[in-house]
Amino acid sequence: MFRKKVVLRTGEEILLEQITGKESAAEFQRFINSFNRERAYLGNDRPLTVKEEKEWLSEAASKNKKGSMIYLKALADGKLIGDCSAERGKFKAKGNVLVGIAILKNWRGKGLGKRMLSEVIALAKKKWEPKNVYLTVAENNAPARALYRSIGFREIGRWPDWINQYGKYEDVTMMLLKK
Ligand SMILES: CC(C)(COP(=O)(O)OP(=O)(O)OC[C@H]1O[C@@H](n2cnc3c(N)ncnc32)[C@H](O)[C@@H]1OP(=O)(O)O)[C@@H](O)C(=O)NCCC(=O)NCCS
Repeated sequence: MFRKKVVLRTGEEILLEQITGKESAAEFQRFINSFNRERAYLGNDRPLTVKEEKEWLSEAASKNKKGSMIYLKALADGKLIGDCSAERGKFKAKGNVLVGIAILKNWRGKGLGKRMLSEVIALAKKKWEPKNVYLTVAENNAPARALYRSIGFREIGRWPDWINQYGKYEDVTMMLLKK
């Protein structure tokens, strides 16, 4: 299981660790719902219940165990402040790896997103030798697009008016990591 201490440019020490399945669903629920409260660009259009988060976590832990997903959490003094995942496609899509990331508001702009996503991509490349590493992002999620571009992702497609972002339809783009 992956476990690594990293030091941010602020000097703060963060532990990056693959989930074990023993995580607190309540803590993950608070984490994920904080993005909903700030109306961030994540998939949920409403807060999740602890039960829903528990189910999601247990599925993620089982995929981690089976080896079809790499799911890292970032801990500051033991508290969850970020997560980042890579998931391998199934069957004919096995060569494609989808990545995603979220960092708590107070911890952004310190280089953690870039560090975490780079670690996950390196792990995914080593483990699966994927043909494509890709992600989807709302067109107007400028911070996320800046992060992805700085890592080497380029836009390759667009779905117009694809997600209902708190009452307003917005375009979503697919980005592919340059080889
Ligand atoms: C997107 C997100 C993960 C970025 O994480 P972060 O830890 O703040 O990013 P970093 O500090 O590592 O910055 C990485 C790069 O992105 C750029 N960046 C980060 N935030 C930015 C902002 N608000 N505006 C412009 N550029 C920004 C940085 O300048 C940096 O570029 P560089 O390496 O060329 O200097 C974070 O904003 C987040 O969790 N947002 C809410 C959830 C979300 O939108 N997730 C993505 C869904 S697709």
